[in-house]
Amino acid sequence: MNKDNKENNLYRVAILGSGPAGFFAADHLFKNNELNIEIDMYDKLPTPFGLVRSGVAPDHQKIKTVTKVYDKIAANPKFKFFGLIEYGHHITLEDLKHHYHQVLFATGAQTDRRMNIPGEDLNRSHTATEFVAWYNGHPDFADLEFDLSGEKIAIIGMGNVAVDVARILCRSEEELSKTDIAGYAFEKLVNSNVKEVFMIGRRGPAQAAFTNPELKELGNLDIADCLILKEESQLDDLTTQYLSDNPERSIERKLEMISEYSNHTKTKEKSLTIRFLLSPTEIIPDEDGNVKAIKLVKNALSKSDDGSLRPKATEENEILEVDMVFRSIGYRGIPLPEVPFKESWGIIPNIRGRVADEEENNTLTGLYVTGWIKRGPTGVIGTNKRDSGETVALMIEDIKNNNTFRPENPTSDKIETLIKERNPEYINYEDWLKIDSEEIARGEKVGRPRVKFTKIDDIKKHLKK
Ligand SMILES: Cc1cc2nc3c(=O)[nH]c(=O)nc-3n(C[C@H](O)[C@H](O)[C@H](O)COP(=O)(O)OP(=O)(O)OC[C@H]3O[C@@H](n4cnc5c(N)ncnc54)[C@H](O)[C@@H]3O)c2cc1C
Ligand SMILES: NC(=O)c1ccc[n+]([C@@H]2O[C@H](COP(=O)([O-])OP(=O)(O)OC[C@H]3O[C@@H](n4cnc5c(N)ncnc54)[C@H](OP(=O)(O)O)[C@@H]3O)[C@@H](O)[C@H]2O)c1
Repeated sequence: MNKDNKENNLYRVAILGSGPAGFFAADHLFKNNELNIEIDMYDKLPTPFGLVRSGVAPDHQKIKTVTKVYDKIAANPKFKFFGLIEYGHHITLEDLKHHYHQVLFATGAQTDRRMNIPGEDLNRSHTATEFVAWYNGHPDFADLEFDLSGEKIAIIGMGNVAVDVARILCRSEEELSKTDIAGYAFEKLVNSNVKEVFMIGRRGPAQAAFTNPELKELGNLDIADCLILKEESQLDDLTTQYLSDNPERSIERKLEMISEYSNHTKTKEKSLTIRFLLSPTEIIPDEDGNVKAIKLVKNALSKSDDGSLRPKATEENEILEVDMVFRSIGYRGIPLPEVPFKESWGIIPNIRGRVADEEENNTLTGLYVTGWIKRGPTGVIGTNKRDSGETVALMIEDIKNNNTFRPENPTSDKIETLIKERNPEYINYEDWLKIDSEEIARGEKVGRPRVKFTKIDDIKKHLKK
């Protein structure tokens, strides 16, 4: 350990990103009793909580109560929050090395994966990433326009994000009015002409990525029926064999629900049809360059080298006429300045959470990673707790082995002076709590959980009052 640290045993850690991974890491660090650790958490947004605020569906309020746990972590006197401070813009790696012993990247997966098919960028072809951020009031996406005047929408992909998007498109005015969906999105959705939504998966019912509670919810929508074609609900021989060799209760339950939905008929105002074993090969434009239809190829499953069942295109095609397409085939991390990036996975290369060089041979002193930017865009909120635990164990081991940066100015005051120079309007946790109270108070007036600020300027104005 260097001289300063020996004297006061104080270690300063910077966490970039205030989503679940960042907060769970802070919690693990504070729970270590042997070391005296101070944490500064940065976020480019004025508000904390990452995808819990801007991803988790507005009609899933219960899951958002995890933020109460994060509030407790933030109440630790050794914790500071710097909102509106973007790594790579307001603050650099060089700055952080001068002020912290360790730097932890928890910046999540900020963009989407591409399908690489013709027509992907037509008008009215959007990513779920954008749509989700828009309806959740993320300030960077609040000004986007979604033309919901058409009746038919296709969603490509069959994960829980696709399910969220489908559900939000199919909810009634009454259902949406109880959520914290952004005001502009509420107006647009309740006045939309959407009647038929198709969720399209490239594999079969047994391989669908959505989870059972999410599928169950689709069967209980007020104004939309969840439909499945009888012939597409049947299992192919390879899947039947696979399931008999690898029985799994949750898949059995999923198949029971799918079979039940395949008996549904349309009785309500809207329908959500789940389609299996189809891959988009082209999005077809009308004469004005808007989405007119989607060309799909029928797939059959085949066994891959690792034993999993993968989709293989057949000769059979289908044209599905739709007015809009949402691509929901997964999120993707973006590179950060001065940090290695593994392009093929869209993550920061790492060995169990220690940042590695691009060849993944050596780890880099002082740099760590957790959450979606560490392992890729999969897993629920709780998955990040375990993941952060793995990284933090290594951070603590490295501190004990005196393998950290040697910061020249490891004091709270010094970094705060620098932050004020870089962005005098940065947001601290007290500011956030004021924003939070105001949003909740506005919500109470109209019977909603909260009414979000969706513009950074409005937040700044409110804080100046
Ligand atoms: C649409 C959607 C719905 C979901 N719904 C659920 C659900 O209902 N239940 C559930 O358990 N899980 C859900 N998940 C999964 C869950 O949200 C993720 O597991 C989790 O948010 C990942 O945490 P993270 O901290 O790695 O990333 P994020 O939550 O994305 O947090 C990253 C943070 O880093 C910040 N950041 C990025 N770049 C910078 C930078 N350069 N400088 C400073 N800050 C930066 C971002 O602003 C953000 O606040 C959902 C995911 C999505 C996409
Ligand atoms: N309520 C919740 O708990 C909740 C809500 C939202 C998100 N989440 C979690 O957040 C994580 C991310 O969710 P996600 O939905 O973005 O990802 P996901 O679960 O990985 O699903 C991605 C979907 O896209 C499909 N896909 C990928 N590439 C494709 C291509 N080229 N063409 C066609 N389809 C393609 C996948 O099919 P294959 O399976 O064939 O690859 C899969 O159906 C997941 O872990 C999810 O559980 C949880």
